[in-house]
Amino acid sequence: MTTQLHAAGTIGVFDSGLGGLTALRRLRALAPQYDIIYFGDTARVPYGTRDTETLIRFARQNVEFLREQGAERVLVACGTISSVLPKEDWAKLPLPCWGVIHAAADAALAATKNGRIGILATPATIRSGSYVQRLESRAEGLVTVPVACPDFVPLIESGKAESDEFRQAARGYLADIRAAGCDTVILGCTHYPLACRILGEELGNGVTLIDSGGEAAAALLNQLQGIPHSGSGKLRCCVSGDAGVFARNAEALLGSSLLPQVEQVTL
Ligand code: DGL
Repeated sequence: MTTQLHAAGTIGVFDSGLGGLTALRRLRALAPQYDIIYFGDTARVPYGTRDTETLIRFARQNVEFLREQGAERVLVACGTISSVLPKEDWAKLPLPCWGVIHAAADAALAATKNGRIGILATPATIRSGSYVQRLESRAEGLVTVPVACPDFVPLIESGKAESDEFRQAARGYLADIRAAGCDTVILGCTHYPLACRILGEELGNGVTLIDSGGEAAAALLNQLQGIPHSGSGKLRCCVSGDAGVFARNAEALLGSSLLPQVEQVTL
């Protein structure tokens, strides 16, 4: 008997805005042959200060949108949705979906030498305890320092990832992580790697920053290994807010080569 492998089709990727581009960047770098559709829900960003019920609704709508556009599986490139969606709700989503928590936590465990791990993420992610639970289920005796950073996403979305304002906010958020001597810090919101220059400078040499979106993208590709794919490297990028603003911010942060024309869509 031969096993018929279903060819891997279009990968959908979504986030509240720019953050998921960190996952998209890694997908394109590692596997440019896949067809990808990206959705940034910029009309409703930020997600990280919203309640769980609302976030579950957004997750369903976003996955349904990506399904209608032809996606066959989805990378939930959003630490917040990945954290708050209850286990039973993942199975009810209209497509198979992968989150970012396990891959990022596992990368942090592989990187740390002193067992002291900081976690920077949105208020909803920190409240959920998702990263701490994953870390503690995989290793004993860790010191974890979770810190909610409500100001980071609005600053990054408004083009201020490189600003003094961002640096000031970072100094406050990083104080406990520095005091605890963490040698590894999970950037548990996918937006945060877009501000890695300032975060790296403020944490200093010798601290490893974990790119949650990038790690999740690599983990998904690992799972797809061996499955033939039907893609030819097509990329679409859709947002629910202003396409021009998104395109300009994305280009400033990631360069002009990553994204095609950005389309504005209504869910
Ligand atoms: N980038 C998302 C995350 O990883 C969403 C942040 C937000 O919109 O607050 O949590």
